[in-house]
Amino acid sequence: MKVLLCASEGTPFIKTGGLADVVGALPKALKANGVDIRVMLPYYKKIKEKNIASYCGYAYVRISNRNEYVGVFHSEADGIHYYFIDSDRYFGRDGLYGYGDDGERFAFFDFAVLEAIKVIDFMPDVIHVNDWQTGLVPYILKNNYHYYPEYRRIKTMFSIHNIQYQGVFPKEIMNIMYMPYSSSLEYDNCINYMKCAIMESDIVTTVSDTYKNEVLTDEYGYRLNYILELRKYDFYGILNGIDVNKYNPETDKEISFHYSLNNYIQGKAANKQHLLEYFGLNKNENVPVFGLVSRLVDQKGIDILMPILEDVLVHSNALFILMGSGDKVYEDYFRYMENKYPTRFKSFIGYSDSVAQKIYAGADIFLMPSKFEPCGLGQMIALRYGTLPLVRETGGLKDTVKPYNKYEDSGWGFSFANYNTESLKEVMYFAIDTFKDKKAWESLVKRAMELDYSWNKSAKAYINLYEKMCKKGGY
Ligand code: GLC
Repeated sequence: MKVLLCASEGTPFIKTGGLADVVGALPKALKANGVDIRVMLPYYKKIKEKNIASYCGYAYVRISNRNEYVGVFHSEADGIHYYFIDSDRYFGRDGLYGYGDDGERFAFFDFAVLEAIKVIDFMPDVIHVNDWQTGLVPYILKNNYHYYPEYRRIKTMFSIHNIQYQGVFPKEIMNIMYMPYSSSLEYDNCINYMKCAIMESDIVTTVSDTYKNEVLTDEYGYRLNYILELRKYDFYGILNGIDVNKYNPETDKEISFHYSLNNYIQGKAANKQHLLEYFGLNKNENVPVFGLVSRLVDQKGIDILMPILEDVLVHSNALFILMGSGDKVYEDYFRYMENKYPTRFKSFIGYSDSVAQKIYAGADIFLMPSKFEPCGLGQMIALRYGTLPLVRETGGLKDTVKPYNKYEDSGWGFSFANYNTESLKEVMYFAIDTFKDKKAWESLVKRAMELDYSWNKSAKAYINLYEKMCKKGGY
């Protein structure tokens, strides 16, 4: 089975969000299960500067009435072959997204992917694309390559990591593309790359079972629920995993004290002390520490957290250590709280892998009150480090966090259903209360660390679908 995975970001090369983690980890699990997997990414300036890839060859694609140069570069990481699409015009910039010509940039990438497979001499059985940035590949494949028998047998899978971002552009964008027009490209009088991908792929997936059901509704579907409804028999939810080698409390280089199920009580305590010290807090306090590592955007539930942070600080002895960057209102609020409660509240505005790992290992409770969360990786990482997630019951959070039930002594985290401050507040106080019961807490931590959220099971689910597609006839 030969699979080409295409995306707009991937670790260890470039990351802005969870998609990059998936693109970094899934290939290793696929390879371990016998798949010949290759990954294709844009050759952003930030990757190019690292000088780690070698030149393979070039091609041209027709876009904006030009024959545009496509350089192809190759690098290997963790035994996986990565190919990069080089274009100074489109990717020689500091950032990844947010440019006025993003529609053109990623259309170019999608055309380039299909030319680049000739350059690297790898004809995949399946092209697996992710989110809107690679959403045009299935359509271009069908329409521009159907004369080539070796292309005609390629199947396509589209994975939705976040349905809120759809790649919506004015219809005029079609003028730059060298391909026929079709109604599957259009939605609400615009060109919608994600809609096109949903219509044109052989199979559509998303990153958890609950999110799969949610995006079929008006509340979560951002209008694409109507389109997904048309494809519901080819639509699957496969839970993401985490890279259990990278996120391993026994070997993590970023943490001060390594631990496993054998010495977790000692390990958690040592890392907590270190975390508090690192942030200049009193390291000897035996109080619950809430941690948060997140992009600071509406999706993540910061808006329902803000109104009660102060309440919790005043009425309990809990400490807060938050890390993230994003919307200025949230960043400013964190700075304000840090000034007001310097011995109780600390924030790191920005992103640092090293600080993130210290929070995962050193906090007691990991906050993730998301409005929606297709899968979420933070809660799974937290669990692996024995930090109990406090989540809203949505998407992958619901599928991975079983709430603590003190009567049955079951579960491994805390959760609430309704997206509002009151519900969040109630469960935060419940967590603070539970923390006082050392025995109960220790058994929760132990259960958390015993869970297996590795990629192995999910990789097998993807392989089943790849095989299923390949058994279907051609078009
Ligand atoms: C997006 C989603 C997140 C998911 C990730 C990887 O970032 O917001 O929930 O875990 O994609 O699929």
